[in-house]
Amino acid sequence: MPKKIVAGNWKMNNDLSQTETLLKDLKKQVIPEDVTVMIAPSFTNLFKAFESTREHPIQVIAQNMHQSQKGAFTGEVSAGMLKSVGVQTVILGHSERRAYFNETDDLLAEKINTALENNMQAIFCIGEELRDRESGDHYEVIQNQLKNGLFHVSNDSWSRIMIAYEPVWAIGTGETASPQQVQEMHHYIRETIAKQYDRNIAKNVSILYGGSVKPGNAKEIFAKKDVDGGLIGGAALNAEDFMAIINAFG
Ligand code: PGA
Repeated sequence: MPKKIVAGNWKMNNDLSQTETLLKDLKKQVIPEDVTVMIAPSFTNLFKAFESTREHPIQVIAQNMHQSQKGAFTGEVSAGMLKSVGVQTVILGHSERRAYFNETDDLLAEKINTALENNMQAIFCIGEELRDRESGDHYEVIQNQLKNGLFHVSNDSWSRIMIAYEPVWAIGTGETASPQQVQEMHHYIRETIAKQYDRNIAKNVSILYGGSVKPGNAKEIFAKKDVDGGLIGGAALNAEDFMAIINAFG
């Protein structure tokens, strides 16, 4: 069975005191036992967030990391550094990283290897742009992102990989893919994994949806058969909204 996961991607929001306030509010809430909740604060707040959730089921994860183990890469953060502050999971290939920081499939393939070599888990993000969907190429784009960025990993590695399907046109735009569109693509992703690997791996991998998930639409999206959770941006910055989304799933 895939794990049910709701992950909050805080992006470049929340300084230290805002991080503390949001965490204080989240920690007051009861998290449904069958849902794994993750939050991804900025690098500077990971340690504080990890310390503050030590006794709490919320997992603290990173938004990105560098592909090298260490060295002369000014401004970058390594897997080892993340692990040393308690982080076990990293988001890789978010569309904002792909679009604004030129992260290519080849680079992401390296980052996935680094995460796996360091025994970390990864949430691997994929998603088509509006022009791909309008031209009917969205399945091909998704297939290529999977093939070029992810499908070199071994069968065993899949227990540490999650996928987030995030159509770029739905991120931060208030526009959500319809539950039907989400289900169709999640099903396609699962089938593509089954063809490349095997049905068991495909059945067990958690496939999250991301793109303007809100308390008002979460239930309908999470109810779809191949949706195992969500990667939440804007709505994860507000404890009440984030909890409502988690509870839409529990
Ligand atoms: P959004 O972001 O929920 O604000 O659309 C989702 C994401 O980028 O992960």
